[in-house]
Amino acid sequence: MRRKLAAGNWKMNGTTTALSELDALQDAARGAAEVLICPPATLVAAASAQSGKVAIGGQDCHSAASGAHTGDVSAQMLKDAGATYVILGHSERRADHSESDALVAYKTQAAWAVGLTAIVCVGETLDEREGGKTLDVVGRQLAASLPDDVTGANTVIAYEPVWAIGTGKVPTTDQIAEVHSFMRSTLIQRFGNDTAQAIRLLYGGSVKASNATEIFAVADVDGALVGGASITASDFAPIVAAL
Ligand code: G3P
Repeated sequence: MRRKLAAGNWKMNGTTTALSELDALQDAARGAAEVLICPPATLVAAASAQSGKVAIGGQDCHSAASGAHTGDVSAQMLKDAGATYVILGHSERRADHSESDALVAYKTQAAWAVGLTAIVCVGETLDEREGGKTLDVVGRQLAASLPDDVTGANTVIAYEPVWAIGTGKVPTTDQIAEVHSFMRSTLIQRFGNDTAQAIRLLYGGSVKASNATEIFAVADVDGALVGGASITASDFAPIVAAL
């Protein structure tokens, strides 16, 4: 049985005052679903120190264990600061920093090497969706971004259509179901049924309290990766409660 996961990605938002939101999430985090907040790297240590039942994650890590990489953060540093998860291959990183599937796979291995669970993001652009290429794109990203040693414990996959991120546009439940079912069967083919059934598949892109129940009812949706609506506990707690 896959444990539901409500993951919040604060992106480049939040200074120390935002940490009070973690206190306000404690009640929400006492339920059956796992609650995760991925604050900016500057807040990971402080967030971990006061996170209580809320798990803390990073938003990216370097593929190397250490070295001359000015401005970057290693998986070990995130772990040392108290993180247990790291988001990898988010479309904003793929776009802003030209991250390739191969690089995401290297980063995933770096995360696993220190015991972090990788949340690997995939998803098509609007052009790709309109060109009928969604499953090709997601299939290619899954194939090339996931190393071979995937398990249900070390990896979560987030399907985030780029056109739904921060736009208020949400795919229909049929569209979400099609991609999630495709992802599950792709994972079964590559990793076998037991491993594939243990991997949690999140949907991300304009999830709000008002659409969460409908999205969470879709088969093979094991939770959400939430951006804007994860920044305050008053927005995020109802999403957690819908799981
Ligand atoms: O990683 C979460 C994300 O990209 C979705 O953002 O603001 O549309 O919920 P948002």
